[in-house]
Amino acid sequence: MTASFVPYFAVLLTLLVGASLLIPAVLTGVPALSSRGSEVDDIIALLEHAKLPKHALIVDLGSGWGALVVALAQAFPEASVQGMEISLFPYLVSRLRTHHLPNVSLTWGNFFCSDPSNADAIVCYLMPGVMAKLGDFLDKAIRPGTFVVTNTFLFREHRASAVRRRGLSGTVALYIWPGRHWTVKDGDDIARV
Ligand SMILES: C[S@@+](CC[C@H](N)C(=O)[O-])C[C@H]1O[C@@H](n2cnc3c(N)ncnc32)[C@H](O)[C@@H]1O
Repeated sequence: MTASFVPYFAVLLTLLVGASLLIPAVLTGVPALSSRGSEVDDIIALLEHAKLPKHALIVDLGSGWGALVVALAQAFPEASVQGMEISLFPYLVSRLRTHHLPNVSLTWGNFFCSDPSNADAIVCYLMPGVMAKLGDFLDKAIRPGTFVVTNTFLFREHRASAVRRRGLSGTVALYIWPGRHWTVKDGDDIARV
């Protein structure tokens, strides 16, 4: 009798997980994809280049499944790494992935409603349609001089201090906020590290 409920339960669970992934992706315009290994390496290299304070606070806006926060917490063991994720299922998985990492804290919610003003560095991997709104948010929410690292999608009107770009990987850019105001044109030469 109990076993007959198993297929219904499996279908219900699949629908719930699917909805928890699909609805936030439609509302935010950002799917829950993880940064690739080479991109994570580039993000870490740029944060090392930035020479963060020893006990820096690094905030991942849209922390997804937790791949980036795990890598950051291991690369900067004396830093605190915070992640904020709006999509419930990836958030729950990221909680499981990071439970053994004492320097990680994760929050479920909309980062546009957060206060990242204490951050020494912000990292994000979002989508082109969100970058202008994120730039306006960061203008109000973070201190001038905060390091901001973007994966793949650039702020079109802010000047990157350094970029890393290799092969088919996305471009990873470091901004010293606000790095203002400079329009990226095709062929512009940005410093590389
Ligand atoms: C492409 S994933 C990147 C995940 C992770 N940062 C990484 O690099 O591996 C972007 C994540 O941002 C989340 N997101 C988008 N807009 C958000 C918002 N306003 N508040 C919180 N999370 C958001 C999405 O749900 C998605 O999981």
